[in-house]
Amino acid sequence: MKAVVGYDIDQDAVDKAATRLESTPGATVHQADFLALAAESSGPAEPDLFDIGGASRQLEFELVISNPPYVRTQTLGADVAQTLGTKFGLTGRVDLYHAFTVAMIRALADGGGLGLLCSNKFLTNKAGTSMRRLLLEQLDLSEIVDLGDTKLFEAAVLPVIVSGTRVSNGKQKRETVGFRSVYEVKAHASPIASPIIAALSDRTSGGVVDGERTFVIRAGLLDVAAGHMQPWNPMDAATRARFSVLRKSKVKTLGDLGKIKVGVKTTADPVFIRTDWGTLPNELQPEAELVHQLITHHDIEPWDASQGARRILYPHRDNNGRSAAVDLTGYPRAAAYLESHRERLEGRKYVINGGRNWYEIWVPQKPGLWKLPKLVFPDIAETPRFAIDRTGAIVNGDCYWLTIEDDDLADVVTAVGNSSFCTWFYDAACGNFLYAGRRRFMTQYMERLPIPNVTENLVEEIRGLHATGDAEGLDELVWRSLGVEKPFG
Ligand SMILES: C[S@@+](CC[C@H](N)C(=O)[O-])C[C@H]1O[C@@H](n2cnc3c(N)ncnc32)[C@H](O)[C@@H]1O
Repeated sequence: MKAVVGYDIDQDAVDKAATRLESTPGATVHQADFLALAAESSGPAEPDLFDIGGASRQLEFELVISNPPYVRTQTLGADVAQTLGTKFGLTGRVDLYHAFTVAMIRALADGGGLGLLCSNKFLTNKAGTSMRRLLLEQLDLSEIVDLGDTKLFEAAVLPVIVSGTRVSNGKQKRETVGFRSVYEVKAHASPIASPIIAALSDRTSGGVVDGERTFVIRAGLLDVAAGHMQPWNPMDAATRARFSVLRKSKVKTLGDLGKIKVGVKTTADPVFIRTDWGTLPNELQPEAELVHQLITHHDIEPWDASQGARRILYPHRDNNGRSAAVDLTGYPRAAAYLESHRERLEGRKYVINGGRNWYEIWVPQKPGLWKLPKLVFPDIAETPRFAIDRTGAIVNGDCYWLTIEDDDLADVVTAVGNSSFCTWFYDAACGNFLYAGRRRFMTQYMERLPIPNVTENLVEEIRGLHATGDAEGLDELVWRSLGVEKPFG
């Protein structure tokens, strides 16, 4: 007879599930630690996560379904994370759902089915690389549904459903894996009215209005050939065709042009960053040499980042290409100001424990680089905004920056960064969406942004269109310069 077995460590959850399964013949629900069961079931810990089939496997289910808890390493605590890592052969950052996925696969018979509902972060972030590898190598994936910011469940994380069957190594797997995602948007040109679940089941791309909210469904395939190193996103046929053009044309990427760095992190912003330095008593007004214009995400408009009123007290100097703290005896007013905030600044134990002075900025970056021309863009934004700064301003930690000394190249990159191509590329290749249509333009994604070859003609055209404020013309030009057809609408 078939058996249905449930496990939860929480007795209330066990009781609830048992009540629901009362009329299911052969169903039992146990209060048990599933991770402990799965670890025991496979015998001793395996040296490699991907060598899942242990000799003494006892759990052999035909189907395992779970919505495992989502607890990050920081919350788990280092000891628990390390024990889980050893038990389940995980390296790097250990999220609990990752350990659960290994355990679930271990509990499956060959050919058994897996239904996993978990945080969607692993689809797109670097820490998810090993989770993506695990799923690709151990399962014949059948479908992925990224439920995005639909809030279909009461959960703090954005959920994804992954399904597949366990395969032994080397067995043929299907080459195409259906992949759908759904995210809320402010508006859509031609949405259909439908409950979101019904629209998702139809498996077509497009806009959907469900009650007060509008969503975009992207239906496509997982690019299985691209493997686990890149983020996972649904790719439709048109997107795949455009990527193939980009791959063939072998254009440079933003990451080829230099290191994309995050801005400074003070960990005491109210002390270091102000708009009202001039209103302080004279003896507390830091010397002008240490106070610099600061670019934050508020200040960045496409092409321009010069408007901000924030100034940062930056007690660092260049020391052979690295950062060194300034000697405050040379700056009595800055010293007096910092002294007046000493208690708060010394509260940052990690600064002092790191062998640094109590008045330093936590992440000052390299002071010698600020004076160079640089490209800046916000980390979080609805659409990308790239500006060029030639004023020597310092960049805040809510933005990324990259020094580009060649003016022609800087203009080309800025045109690309502000174009609909950049948004399209981000959505298709990176796709780390947050609530309310915001995207994260982190280094790991932006370094992949294609940049067309810089020619005299291209630079001249870009400058002409920018000077006349022809944003649409500029946008068309970016797509054309990369040899990729701009999607309609
Ligand atoms: C995200 S919740 C799932 C909620 C469920 N989908 C629902 O709608 O009620 C995760 C569940 O896993 C249980 N859990 C946590 N650690 C566990 C473990 N080691 N073994 C078994 N269950 C565990 C928690 O008690 C919780 O009920």
